Amino acid sequence: MSELIQLLPKAELHMHIEGSLEPELMFKLAKRNGIELPYASIDELKALYNFNNLQEFLDIYYQGCSVLQTEQDFYDLAWAYLEKAKQDHVVHTEIFYDPQSHTDRGIPFETAINGLYRAFDDGQQQLGISFHIIACFLRHLPEQDALDLYPKILKHQDKILGIGLDSSEMGHPPEKYQQVFAQARKDGFKVVAHAGEEGPADYVKQAIDLLQVDRIDHGNRCLDDDILTAQIAKADLALTVCPLSNLKLKVVKSLQEHPIKLMLRKGLMATINSDDPAYFGGYINENFLQLAEAVNLSDSDIITLIENSFKASFLPKSIIDIHLQTLHSI
Ligand code: ADE
Ligand code: ZN
Repeated sequence: MSELIQLLPKAELHMHIEGSLEPELMFKLAKRNGIELPYASIDELKALYNFNNLQEFLDIYYQGCSVLQTEQDFYDLAWAYLEKAKQDHVVHTEIFYDPQSHTDRGIPFETAINGLYRAFDDGQQQLGISFHIIACFLRHLPEQDALDLYPKILKHQDKILGIGLDSSEMGHPPEKYQQVFAQARKDGFKVVAHAGEEGPADYVKQAIDLLQVDRIDHGNRCLDDDILTAQIAKADLALTVCPLSNLKLKVVKSLQEHPIKLMLRKGLMATINSDDPAYFGGYINENFLQLAEAVNLSDSDIITLIENSFKASFLPKSIIDIHLQTLHSI
């Protein structure tokens, strides 16, 4: 089982680059930039990684972002992730970043995107990992903030493939962001949104009907609505599922109770992803491994989930076919 997971090439479709900031790198960058963290040590910080819900995690995640100051910091962050991705045999990654969590601290928009893009471009050349970057709007902020930022994202469309929606879900339904998503679609961006992580099935429905998303991030709670679930399955609208995140943020009580098998049984195009691996206890292979053990995934389930990762990616169909062929030749 673990050999199969390690052996197979895979795509990762739901990974926040800021969520790959390991405590060691956080302290190193804090020192480099003369920033005082509110934790005396790495151990003190790690002891806080015990979350009861999404918000408790986000408070620490945004605090961690404060150490990211220069283009080189963003480069180093992305490179550290790429090295882990390479070890896990990731051959394509579609990463999220949160521009507002940097611009709102006075970091120019260009600093983050240029550092990230340069690292991923180097990763493509040196490690053979292809990539797409998705810029997410923070849904706890007003839509007007997203509309104000949008021209910057458009200006960098050569580096940014898609628009996403993340941060605190409850009380911030997708309907709040219809205008900026409509504009992004018109301009040719792919669009995705976190929905149904903590929020109800209706938020998933809104993401589909009102934002017209190309993919749903998490989507767990769609299972509360049979009609919606059938509709998502029929439309082949993928879910980017994040098992260890679901466990750490108490979306599921235990990994044994994770609904991944139910999702597959219902014909949903589920994929496995790491979300915020530095905070949730593991990168993509660790997500596969722990989930496979907890719910007893078969080899065929694992292959389906990995096939889905390519099918649900925003790669051109011809490249997807090549990845699927490679996968089946192993
Ligand atoms: N930002 C980073 N990780 C997130 C998650 N799991 N849900 C919502 N926003 C996030
Ligand atoms: Zn996420």
